[in-house]
Order: sequence, then structure tokens, then C-alpha cells
Amino acid sequence: VRLKPYVDSLPVPPVIRATGKPRETIDIEMGQFQQKVHRDLPPTTLWGYNGSWPGPTIEARSGQPLSINWVSKLPTTHLLPIDHSIHGAESSLPAVRNVAHLHGACAMPDDDGYPEAWFTAQGEHGPHGPKFNPRPSSYPNCQPSTTLWYHDHCLGITRLNVYAGLAGFYLIRDEAEKALNLPQGEFEIPLMLQDRLFHRDGSLYYPKVVNGPKEHPIWIQEFYGDYNCVNGKVSPFLEVEPRKYRFRIVNAANARFYHLRLFISDATGKIQNDSFDVPAFQQIGTDGGLLPAPLQIRYLLIGPGERFDIVIDFADCEGKSFSLVNDAPAPYTMGGQYLPEDVLLFKVTKTPSGKDTSVVPEALVPFEPLVPTYATRERLLLVSEKERPSDGYVITGLLGNARWHEPITEDPKAGATEIWSFVNITGDVHPLHVHLVRFQVLNRQTFDVQTYQQTGKLVFTGKPMAPESNERPAHKDTIKSYPGYVTRVVMRFDLPHGAQMSPGDELLYVWHCHILEHEDNEMMRPYKVVV
Ligand code: C2O
Ligand code: CU
Repeated sequence: VRLKPYVDSLPVPPVIRATGKPRETIDIEMGQFQQKVHRDLPPTTLWGYNGSWPGPTIEARSGQPLSINWVSKLPTTHLLPIDHSIHGAESSLPAVRNVAHLHGACAMPDDDGYPEAWFTAQGEHGPHGPKFNPRPSSYPNCQPSTTLWYHDHCLGITRLNVYAGLAGFYLIRDEAEKALNLPQGEFEIPLMLQDRLFHRDGSLYYPKVVNGPKEHPIWIQEFYGDYNCVNGKVSPFLEVEPRKYRFRIVNAANARFYHLRLFISDATGKIQNDSFDVPAFQQIGTDGGLLPAPLQIRYLLIGPGERFDIVIDFADCEGKSFSLVNDAPAPYTMGGQYLPEDVLLFKVTKTPSGKDTSVVPEALVPFEPLVPTYATRERLLLVSEKERPSDGYVITGLLGNARWHEPITEDPKAGATEIWSFVNITGDVHPLHVHLVRFQVLNRQTFDVQTYQQTGKLVFTGKPMAPESNERPAHKDTIKSYPGYVTRVVMRFDLPHGAQMSPGDELLYVWHCHILEHEDNEMMRPYKVVV
């Protein structure tokens, strides 16, 4: 029997607000605990930060550095099956290893949660990865207001650690955002989207290949669950007042894309009518911060790792219910799985607590476009999958046609502007993420995949197409690379504020696909910024 959707109310993660005191350090502890994910399921054993899934929402102020002391109190055995044949997940290593990464942050390499900077519950006194940093991670927050999120990033087991619950929001706020008078306080709600499978006893289920390929006996290509969780609850409902709400959405799923629409439904979430007579989404921000102007959209297409900052106005909707439904196929875009649909049910049943004085101004924040002609170089980067000749089983994804351990090939100069052109010859969309930087999408262009595969020549079959209206003008750090397209982004490799470097210094970061099964299995590469 399927768990009934919309019987639990949406939890909102606890908030930890930075005080703004100089050199502030907070402790965040990873641990194992139990949490109810659905009314009809026994409690689920999970891993999380500070005892909750998602972890606490950390609120920092722009320009005010904050340090986090990431501590592990996790047990020594993993909740989920590890594939020891994957790079960095060898059986000689402790099974439980962790390192936290603040996604979208501009931070120094030691503070960026490098995949080989893992540690265990023994901290500096125990085994740790070659890039381990025993000091608290320092985040300069030298960025405008935006929605970041933190999650585990340990080499070879990121998919399992995040699946177990290790993810949370990190918001940066500034004066420009405050001056806009957007919906705030209880009317600003973070939504973390993740799909999951559960055993009947409530425990997490992460499938493994039985008698799979020798190369990777347990690893699966992509995880897709039967249940949509929002903030750690299966298809919850949210009672709202007839007024504006701001939602900060992150797709924190391992592999699932969300294509979301609102439908008019009854109070149980049953869709009543497929009309456009529902409130629109007003998108006001994305990965790297606020958009220059709000954008009215009817659907949201969110790849793993991406953030959408939206406002929904429920004014004049008293008594109505709207279900937020996902109809993205998995894998995206050509896959055959359509479940699950139910994401979140809004019930406009709360009595207004006061007049809604919040606004969505027509102009939000100024946007400074990066000039592509300033780019000192364009890098053509291949997004490919390697198949076993015997049965075509995909054993790995590759970026730039190289594996994780091969020498670094991407080495931009500090402060340089570069264009990265992702050449996707696979059959699926890969959400590509580059650490350290915010980038701007330039265009997408179709090319002949077969010719490329046979000759290595890039033969375009169409003109460059403008990005989606919510991709430019916008600051992104994760971008959908479509199959058969070259997707071009422009970025400037600025160092974090206060970086003290000398000529010749090298700063080590990573770029990768944000489908966690892919990033764990070779679809991730180190890169360095050279001073
Ligand atoms: Cu959200 Cu390198 O990741
Ligand atoms: Cu991928």
C-alpha cells in the first residue's frame, strides 16, 4: 500500500542565526537519530546535522565571515551499502567518512569541503583524507543575499551520506534584500525537495545492483525514489494565509529533476481541474542571488543542486487548495518513470494574522553582466559516459574525458574570465556545478553527436539559442547540460575576500555533475585557480 499523501504538515527546519560578532564560530554536529517521515511509518533512522533532516537553516550576513566547526558523532558503520570498487570508497578506509561543503559559497580551498578532506568521529585524532582541515571552516560570505545549501561531499560516498540526511540550508542576507520588503519571517519558508524509498519498518532503502557489473557491484546509475519528501516529510501539506509567501527551493535529490506546476485540488490533494486559474510563481532569485526583476512563470524546472527563490500570492484564494505536482520523467528528459507526483499541498485555510504589507518590486537588484569577449579562453569540456563494450552497461560518467585521479586540466588564472562549453554526448541532462564561482549562462547550441563520437569534430546543427529567461540575466552555479547541446557559461575566477596569496599559488576546487551517483563515480574533476 502506498503511503497517503498530504497527511503530515510541512516541517520547517530550525534556524541558527549568526550574531554578527567578529570571528564567530558555531558548532554543527553530525549524528544519527530517528525522525517521523510520515504518519503511517515507524520512525526512520537518519543521519543529519544537529539532529534533524534537513539540518538547521544557517543564516549569515553578507560581508560578515562565519566559521563552522563541523563535528562528527556518527557511528562507525554506514546506514547504506557501500560500493568499495568506486574511487575513494576503498574497503581499507573507515566506512563512515564525512566532509561538509557549502554549495555556492566563495570560500578558500581548505574551507570548501574538498572530497578528499574527509574525517571521522575521531576528528584530527583519527584517520582522515589527504586534504583534511582540522580547523573550523571559515566562510567569508562575500556574496550578495542568496540561497546556499550545505551537504556532505565525501569522495565515493556522497550519494549515501546525503541520502542518509546530511543536507541543510544556508542563507546569506544583505541590506539590498531587506530594503525590498519581500515576504519574511513565518512567510518565508525553505523547501528542500528529495525523493526517497522506505522499508515498511520506516528504515531508509537505497537499492543496490544484485549481480551487477564486476566493475561496480553495488553502485546504481541514478537513484529514484517513490516518495517525494519536502523538509524531511513525505508529501506534506502547508496551511497558508491568503497572502504572499516566499519559498526558497533547493532540489537536494540524488538524481531526480522536478518539473513543478500548481493544480487546483480538493482539501485531500485530489486534482480538481487542470486550469491555469492558479496563482503564478514569481521567481525572484536563483542559485547566486536575486534576479534583476521578478519573472512570472507557470512551472519550475529544477535540476539537482539548483535553487529557485519564488513568491506565490495566495490572496483571494481563501478556502482553496493547490497541489504542487511533479511530472518530470526520470531520468530527465527521456526516461520512462513518472512517479511520484505529489510534492506539496497548499491549503489556504489560515486566518489572516494581519494585512500583507510585503511586496515584490518590479526591480530587485542591479545585475552586472560578465562580458564574454573579455574571456581569456574557452574550454570545450566533454560530458560523456563510458560503457562496457560487452553489454553497454554504463560504468561511469566522465567530464573532460578524464577520470578523477588524472592530472588537472582546468587551470584558470585568478581573476580571469573564461567560457566553459559543456559538450554533452550522453542521452541525459546533467546538472553541472562549479565550486567557488557564480557563472552566467550564455547560450546552448545543438551539434551532431555521431560525428563528434566518430571524428571528435564539433559540427553545429543549429544557431546558438538564448538561455531560459530565468537563466539570464541571473547568477547560477549549477546548470542543466542538455544532451546533444553545447551549453556555454561565462565566469570570472575571483578569489574569496581576504585571500592572501602569492604568485604561483594554486587553489584546488572541484567541478562535477550534481547527480550524486554520477559525481561519486567519475563525473567529477578537480580544477585549480592559479594566482
Ligand atoms: Cu552541491 Cu560540489 O556540490
Ligand atoms: Cu550526470
